[in-house]
Amino acid sequence: MRFGTTFNAGGANSGSYLNPSYAALIEADCDIVVPENELKMPSLRPTEATFNFGPADAMLAYAESKGIAMRGHNLLWYRPDSYILPSWVINDKVLAGSDAAAARARAQQIVVDHITGVAAQYGDRIKSWDVVNEAVDPGTGAVRNNVLAQAVGGDTTLLDLAFRTARAKLPNAELVYNDYMDGGTPTHRTGVLDLLKGFKDRGVPVDTLGVQSHIGFYGLTGSDPINSAINYNISNMKPFLDAVVAMGYKIKVTEMDVNDVNVPGTNADRDAATAAFAKAWLDLILSYGNSVKDVLFWGMCDKYSWLQDSAFGSRSDGQPKRPDPYDANFQPKPMRQSIIDAFTATTKRS
Ligand code: XIL
Repeated sequence: MRFGTTFNAGGANSGSYLNPSYAALIEADCDIVVPENELKMPSLRPTEATFNFGPADAMLAYAESKGIAMRGHNLLWYRPDSYILPSWVINDKVLAGSDAAAARARAQQIVVDHITGVAAQYGDRIKSWDVVNEAVDPGTGAVRNNVLAQAVGGDTTLLDLAFRTARAKLPNAELVYNDYMDGGTPTHRTGVLDLLKGFKDRGVPVDTLGVQSHIGFYGLTGSDPINSAINYNISNMKPFLDAVVAMGYKIKVTEMDVNDVNVPGTNADRDAATAAFAKAWLDLILSYGNSVKDVLFWGMCDKYSWLQDSAFGSRSDGQPKRPDPYDANFQPKPMRQSIIDAFTATTKRS
């Protein structure tokens, strides 16, 4: 089993290896890391002709110097939002043009060129990649729409192509389909199962489902709201994960955190709730034995969590959220002990 986190190249006041306090957490606890934004297409490809590998290269050199593995996130983020794809893709005239055959060929070329370029840079130094990220629309369960999807008529052409290209260029890498899987929406889970089944039917080389695990306490109701929320999520995820493993996929926790946005009370109350949810979630996921060997959090320290952005909700008491294993002063929280307990309790991997 390996434990890890996301990190970034942001500097001394961020979740960066350039921040000595954050680097100390990585080096104390982590076997594996993953760049938060530096390998995403908008970061890597400011123009079609340019690959900006500098920040990710430095992160990989850091990880290698500490004997820590680094995985890759991501080769194709399949969402409509403006920050997901570089502006030269979003504004591409051929993709949006009236010549359907040309648009289709252009979309395929963009995907193949990007993956080929990244693969040539990192080769076997990065052994696990989120090849496709978040391609299922939670509202409909269908493949999401975006400028690339429109150019191929909204089917799975580009997703399949991304995996086939990755397998050809990175024959030794674990290829991951990565998505939310927070236990909440049945339509999304069904859509992901359909997509994974389709990959199998078409012989698309996907090894692993990345279970992001951005779990949290959102709606809290009833007389025992914390445990109800936990049980609701766990009972939804179990049949889903059973089906994923039955299809022959491996599982990986890729981006875990526990959002306490609606948990009332003191810091101790909030930390007890997130620790309990983390323990229940990891106990379930680690119960799949040799199908799961990696757990990565999306941040070690509350201070730098992406969830502090008010776009993801604000607490009614105005306090920052506490979603990570360490608090804003770099002190371990009960959630860290939950992770240790879940790792200790699970069966030995072979
Ligand atoms: C987030 C980063 O943490 C933020 O810094 C960035 O502004 C947006 O993306 N799912 C994913 C990650 O797959 O790439 C996202 O990372 C968090 C949700």
